[in-house]
Amino acid sequence: MRILTLCAEFAPAAKVGGLADVTAGLSQWLSGRGHQVVVVLPYYGAMRAQGVRLEPHPAVGPRSWPVSDGGIGYAVHRLAGTSSGGPAIYCVDAPELYGGAVYASGEREALRFLLLSRAALELAVAAGFSPDVLHCHDWHAAPAALMLRAGFAGQRVFRQTWSVLTIHNIGYQGTFDSEVLGRSGESALAALLATQADSTGEVNLLRAGITHADALTTVSPTHALEIQTPAYGMGLDELLRTRRHRLVGILNGVDYRYWSPEHDPHLPQHYSLADRHGKQAVRAALLAELGLEAPAGVPVVGLVSRLAAQKGIDLIIAALPALLRRRNFACALLGDGDPALVAGLRALAREFPGRVAHVQAQDEPLAHRLIAGSDLLLVPSRYEPCGLTQLYAMRYGTVPVVRLTGGLADTVLHFDPATGAGTGSVFRDADVGGLTWGLETALDWFADRAAWERLVANGMRQDFSWDHQGPKYELLFSRLAGAAP
Ligand code: ADP
Ligand code: GLC
Repeated sequence: MRILTLCAEFAPAAKVGGLADVTAGLSQWLSGRGHQVVVVLPYYGAMRAQGVRLEPHPAVGPRSWPVSDGGIGYAVHRLAGTSSGGPAIYCVDAPELYGGAVYASGEREALRFLLLSRAALELAVAAGFSPDVLHCHDWHAAPAALMLRAGFAGQRVFRQTWSVLTIHNIGYQGTFDSEVLGRSGESALAALLATQADSTGEVNLLRAGITHADALTTVSPTHALEIQTPAYGMGLDELLRTRRHRLVGILNGVDYRYWSPEHDPHLPQHYSLADRHGKQAVRAALLAELGLEAPAGVPVVGLVSRLAAQKGIDLIIAALPALLRRRNFACALLGDGDPALVAGLRALAREFPGRVAHVQAQDEPLAHRLIAGSDLLLVPSRYEPCGLTQLYAMRYGTVPVVRLTGGLADTVLHFDPATGAGTGSVFRDADVGGLTWGLETALDWFADRAAWERLVANGMRQDFSWDHQGPKYELLFSRLAGAAP
């Protein structure tokens, strides 16, 4: 099949969270299966600064996008230096819009991603690339599913193209003043969206995508059910219920070529299920790096997370002081984001020097070292469409402590010392009592060496590779394209 993928993030060049790992992992898996995958993302200023380069000759443009207060210049280039055989990765270069980090805000953010959709479809036209599937990730790419019906409807290359919208995070919907569509010159799109603008005059691009895409997916089976309820639907549950026959939950996969303790290039020492000695060395190095003290027998509790309301970081901040006074453990925390949550973690580190360290950074190598060097990993999310860090943790012999929601519920089974079955500690309530119970339960297991060895080994044996999840996308795509057996 020919697959045109649009996304805001793609690892490693443009990563903020799990979206990047998933768009990269899935594209690579699909292209490894022989499908022709073309990926289009913006060329962010941050990529330019990191030395990510584009091929000199554009595949589209230079063109001018006629937004009302003057045109915005753009071109589409292939990413330089990507290996042949994998997905073909293209970037939309528009310095005026894409300067700075992956995400911006306000009207500029709407324009950035409207242009991504337009330019990606123009690339397909220019290259004569006729996709079977247009795969749109999150609201950022949702406009393309509409442009396929409005504006690009007459294009021959799209005569047999079906759109799929994958919802990675329903908490971000892309709501903007509807006037931005008029100003952006996207009049066909504006007409299609006119009925959608609510009483405040806002358009919601995720809502529009859910309404118009041919198929919808989200990133775990449990979350596919959750988002049809008011508690998790963020205002879109009713629409999702009406579209439920088009919605499927497909768990994210893991690229174990990159996330494995056997060969992770970011680890000072390697280890495996058969020989876990190296994990102790990674742990010791992590403690030294972060200035933490935790002799053998004192567990290290890790966190690698965007600091956002979704992630239950407030629960950590509220629960840890009492727990740290009562129990002996250390905390290695990596995360950046919401200033109030940053301040809360920083205060914890100040109050418990040598026992709590917080690194406020986006640091990929440290994320690997921290997941490998910790004994437990906290994922106390209020909602979690899939979650990847708990999957990585298990592979690295680090026991996840997770809340029973979304993909966390689908991937971590609460351990039972009596039977020896299970892979982590799973708590139900998103409150201090819930998290305290989840962490203390795991700390008790840690003190029982035999139980702990079993629990760690169970996790390391789990297999969430794309070889298991990828075929579900393949089946969905081939059914849409009418090619299924
Ligand atoms: P989300 O996509 O909601 O952020 P996931 O669990 O799916 O949650 O994915 C998070 C990804 O982002 C993982 O690859 C994790 O290692 C990474 N990550 C989160 N915070 C940081 C950070 N501060 N530095 C480096 N990597 C991070
Ligand atoms: C989102 C979700 C996370 C998911 C990731 C990749 O940002 O918050 O649960 O794993 O996307 O699908």
